[in-house]
Amino acid sequence: MSKINVALLGYGTVGKGVYRTIESHQDRLQRLLGKEVKVVAILVRNIDKHIAPDEHVLLTTNYEDILSLPELHIVIDAIVGREPGFSYLKKAIDKGCHVVTANKEMFAFHGTELQALALEKGVGLGYEATVAGGIPIIQTIRQLLSVNHFLGIEAILNGTTNFILTNMRKLGSTFAEALQVAKENGYAESDPTNDIEGYDALYKGMVLSQLIYGGKPNIKSVKRKGITHIQPNHMKIAEEADLRFKHVVTLSKSNNEIQCKVEPVLVPDSHPFYQVEGVQNSVSLATDLLGTLQLQGPGAGMFPTASAILEDIIQLENEHKAPPAAKDSVTDQDALSQWVIFGGYLESEKLGSDIKIIEKLDDTAWVIEAEYIPLGLSHSSDVTIYPLRGKYERKKLPIQV
Ligand SMILES: NC(=O)c1ccc[n+]([C@@H]2O[C@H](COP(=O)([O-])OP(=O)(O)OC[C@H]3O[C@@H](n4cnc5c(N)ncnc54)[C@H](OP(=O)(O)O)[C@@H]3O)[C@@H](O)[C@H]2O)c1
Repeated sequence: MSKINVALLGYGTVGKGVYRTIESHQDRLQRLLGKEVKVVAILVRNIDKHIAPDEHVLLTTNYEDILSLPELHIVIDAIVGREPGFSYLKKAIDKGCHVVTANKEMFAFHGTELQALALEKGVGLGYEATVAGGIPIIQTIRQLLSVNHFLGIEAILNGTTNFILTNMRKLGSTFAEALQVAKENGYAESDPTNDIEGYDALYKGMVLSQLIYGGKPNIKSVKRKGITHIQPNHMKIAEEADLRFKHVVTLSKSNNEIQCKVEPVLVPDSHPFYQVEGVQNSVSLATDLLGTLQLQGPGAGMFPTASAILEDIIQLENEHKAPPAAKDSVTDQDALSQWVIFGGYLESEKLGSDIKIIEKLDDTAWVIEAEYIPLGLSHSSDVTIYPLRGKYERKKLPIQV
């Protein structure tokens, strides 16, 4: 039986998960592909930390050793950062290999160039693992794009921030305490900046934007806000009003411009994200024909990510995918939006006549509705404003304003 020879770049959480899954699912892969799938080489940075999992596997720190293998079919990128991942995959494509990547940062910035090169060289490129781990979001969007236009996307794409927000709410802890728990459980890295400041979610949003709209948002126009400033008393007031904080990526397109926001928002109990807890991810896709579709599942981890990479391998071997992009997908802009405003010295008169007060949650917190928040208010240092997603149903009667 002929073989599909695979090289793994990186042998950490993802690399090891892929190796083990290829071994444990060998029979199934052979039945699906009619060929044995064999990891023939592994690239690492520090060879002293590693032992080759099998004597026939080349373990190396030198990428040229891998490129010079006579029979190599697929290169899987499971290393970290834009470089050297980008250069390594370009060389693999040049050599005529299919490539699969889990490296979202690299793909967010260099995905377009890699896709063009792969098309030119007639090889396949899979990137399911770059967004939402085990949730088959890339495949689903591809399939929907053949007939649907996308009206907008909202998503929880970072398990670490969702875990921290869930713990702050359930335990009444501060952000710092919840971050420490996330670290102790292996859900946050020693330097958690990428997660808690929203960079990781932004990279994933950029990958989705490229797929759906055929382009990326202008990075200068992207609103990116982390979760570090959320206070326990904001959590408590929100909880009492049946609202939950979620760190959400929003993608939309109007007036020929792609908008991307990564920010903490509040959702009511009627919103599908309300129940998305812990390290789960969730993606809500609004389309013209299908309506709104929501997917939820593990957004990271050894085996969910390996599952996404193996799905890509199977797809690549069966067909090369040219991604359709629904450039004409646009978003209907809602005229009125809702926000929750937290502010020590806020009184109803200061909110202005263009702002409708939906509910006063307590002496320092208001649910309001408006077309936009006046600059004076949004720039005020003693006011914190969170967008509210979904429709807030007034809880307290009579209205307390
Ligand atoms: N972890 C997840 O759940 C998850 C989910 C989806 C996507 N991803 C993405 O998948 C990639 C890998 O994540 P991970 O969690 O597996 O990371 P990890 O555990 O830190 O492993 C990274 C691996 O890459 C190797 N490496 C790093 N830089 C290298 C270089 N310049 N040359 C050669 N090898 C290098 C490291 O080698 P040494 O061991 O020798 O240092 C290590 O084996 C990242 O891009 C990440 O964003 C991760």
